[in-house]
Amino acid sequence: MSADSQKQAAGEAAAALVEDGMVVGLGTGSTAAWFVRALAARGLDIRGVPTSDSTSDLARELGIPLVALDDVRRVDLTIDGADEVGPGLSLIKGGGAALLREKLVWEASNRCVVIADAAKQVKVLGTFPLPIEVVRFGHVHTGQRLADIAAEFDLPPPRLRRSDRGLVITDGGNLIYDMMSGRIEEPAVLAAALKSVTGVVDHGLFLDLADEAMVGTDAGVVRLTP
Ligand code: 5RP
Repeated sequence: MSADSQKQAAGEAAAALVEDGMVVGLGTGSTAAWFVRALAARGLDIRGVPTSDSTSDLARELGIPLVALDDVRRVDLTIDGADEVGPGLSLIKGGGAALLREKLVWEASNRCVVIADAAKQVKVLGTFPLPIEVVRFGHVHTGQRLADIAAEFDLPPPRLRRSDRGLVITDGGNLIYDMMSGRIEEPAVLAAALKSVTGVVDHGLFLDLADEAMVGTDAGVVRLTP
């Protein structure tokens, strides 16, 4: 089974969790897109809170009514992908540069379910570079402070994310540094160190946020709890 089929299976299984009347957080990325398509196909009376402009565009195309995060008190259920799913459902997110809006929606949610293909499950987080969102003003200085933190953890300096079109700019107008870690033995310690840097808006470590994972495998969708 291809990774994409596993993503599709996880996305479709997650869509079955949604009930009429819910406010639903709509994640970002290819796995979340499978979920959004499956959700639209169910034709439920729900409102979606998108976690990125791209998800907002997709949901609108599919006719899902949208609402801004600030126009709801809470989100009933958020379904989103991840770049890595580690022990205790600790996650690395932000491969699609949407980590800030994603984390804001996750933190406003009563329940968060992460969906992924089997290759995303890891024993130790860190093979996937950890995204760190920083404000543009003074980002070279912020990058230097991040390099100092990386050195404390014996890691190389984080790299500013670029695409063919130049620097990657997030939906919020910020930049992304990617920290190559290899192994993040103490995610909470690294998370606290990164958050202590003034120019850092947030990072892609999602700790103690996922209530459940639905992982597409060749043997079907496996459900995991922390
Ligand atoms: C975007 C994310 C995505 O959920 C993550 O990158 C996984 O993407 P995909 O489902 O395409 O593998 O965090 O910021």
